[in-house]
Amino acid sequence: MPNHKHFLVANWKMAMTTHQALDFMKMLSVQEITDSRTQVIIAPSFVTLPALHQWITQHSTPIALCAQNSAAMQSGAYTGEVSAVMLKETGCDYVIIGHSERRILFGEREPDLSTKVELAFQAGLTPIFCFGESRDIYESGKTNDFLRKQLAPYSAKLPFILAYEPIWSIGTGFIPTYDDLARTVGFIRSLFPDTALLYGGSVNGSNIDSLLQHTTMNGFLVGGASLKPDVFYSLYQAMNQR
Ligand code: 13P
Repeated sequence: MPNHKHFLVANWKMAMTTHQALDFMKMLSVQEITDSRTQVIIAPSFVTLPALHQWITQHSTPIALCAQNSAAMQSGAYTGEVSAVMLKETGCDYVIIGHSERRILFGEREPDLSTKVELAFQAGLTPIFCFGESRDIYESGKTNDFLRKQLAPYSAKLPFILAYEPIWSIGTGFIPTYDDLARTVGFIRSLFPDTALLYGGSVNGSNIDSLLQHTTMNGFLVGGASLKPDVFYSLYQAMNQR
């Protein structure tokens, strides 16, 4: 496994207002989140980024900020879009690109995703590139072929982070068997041997220890279990105890 730092990423999706986000930060044991091997990253909504950036700066915590999406255009007349440069200026170091909710609900696809990755790099952001198969593909045993196609536009030399998120595992409570996960991770690592690789999909306080024990991931991209400060903190502790 590449010798990367590990990452614990909270993807808050559209679940928290700025008010709720600041309450979350007050309740999180931030003084315990030290500059350890695990980089904690929070991805709130766009509008919450400035308040969270201010909070993190004031409390000198090593938590990093991430956006959940960015525009496929540099700048210009694109009502409602937010550019990578704007995100960097707002205090982000990372941006999630290609989340399955963006792909499925908002029709995002290539070549726009590659453009977003490129613009993120240009702006000084590290893309966290999401990919993963549907249940049909998983059950028909075609996961590797599908992932290969999703990853085909990307060079193994890109300094981005990959996040394998099987669509059927997101928000469902189901995770792949450890054997399947190990096989898929081995396949992804054969294509991207030096890239940090995260897993996302129903990671929670009950399965994180087994996931850490049975797999060789560089961390996790967490949705539902990242919304409660005590649960999220327990994930951080589990990662630091490994
Ligand atoms: P859940 O952890 O709620 O399954 O969500 C995973 C996810 O989509 C993270 O990006």
